[in-house]
Amino acid sequence: MTDLSGKVALVTGAAGGIGAATAEVLAGYGAKVVIGDIQAEAAQATAERLGSNVSAVAYDASDVDSITSLVDAVVEQHGGLDILHNNAAITAAAWSRDTTLLDTEIDWYDRTMAVNLRSTFVLSKLAVPHMIRRGGGSIVNMASIAAFSGSPTLIAYGISKAGVAALTKYMAVQYGRNNVRTNCIAPGAVLTEQVLANVPGVEEGVLSTLPWIRGGVGKDMGNVVAFLSSKEGEYINGQVITVDGGSTAGVAAPKVELPAEHGVSA
Ligand SMILES: NC(=O)c1ccc[n+]([C@@H]2O[C@H](COP(=O)([O-])OP(=O)(O)OC[C@H]3O[C@@H](n4cnc5c(N)ncnc54)[C@H](O)[C@@H]3O)[C@@H](O)[C@H]2O)c1
Repeated sequence: MTDLSGKVALVTGAAGGIGAATAEVLAGYGAKVVIGDIQAEAAQATAERLGSNVSAVAYDASDVDSITSLVDAVVEQHGGLDILHNNAAITAAAWSRDTTLLDTEIDWYDRTMAVNLRSTFVLSKLAVPHMIRRGGGSIVNMASIAAFSGSPTLIAYGISKAGVAALTKYMAVQYGRNNVRTNCIAPGAVLTEQVLANVPGVEEGVLSTLPWIRGGVGKDMGNVVAFLSSKEGEYINGQVITVDGGSTAGVAAPKVELPAEHGVSA
């Protein structure tokens, strides 16, 4: 049974969406959770909704000093850090600005790299010494299936997530001997409120080909983050785990309808 009691977890980008769901899962397993997000009010409201084991700290993932203050605040509040989930990223704002190689502005590319990739590097760089001092820790980075294949749009996002996946391998190799494990999850489409509200027809589109019985939700990601950070997940290090209901496995075959008399013949 997953037990994270006594653990201190930092989940970035958890004012809402997947991060908030993950913060809720980790707190449900007993961890003390700090939400870090640029949306100060929303992060505070989410922390209050999730209860007394969850608090919020405002920070900007594109700013190294701000990331440093975030880590300092967590350590000051809780005396250390055991679980880091690097989840913050530019999402909706990218949908109109992050398109193709020819049309994406270089400033936007740089901003995407800073928020999605460099922040994961910087925050992990600051967190690892605290974990080593405590005798170990778990870092779970957030990639996307967009890291593994091209698409007609979101070129900077996809590159940033491929970088996050690569960074995961380096961190795993470099600190595994210190009992600091690093893994990464790569979600397929997750039907957050934001995605459902802003991407017309997304649910029908996803479900038309997905080889699973429902679309993904934030908690599906939180459950994997919790497992990877638990005692039960302790032999998993350096992995990029796709959590996508099978969307990258292929297009769903029609549901099988068994005839009433179906059985295995000898
Ligand atoms: N929703 C999906 O279908 C999906 C699929 C694959 C991967 N992901 C990844 O999951 C993670 C969460 O995505 P989501 O769908 O919940 O989107 P979201 O926009 O709800 O979450 C991203 C969070 O990051 C925060 N953030 C953005 N810029 C920041 C900054 N400069 N400093 C601090 N915080 C900042 C936002 O305020 C927001 O709360 C992201 O890393 C995203 O790339 C999402």
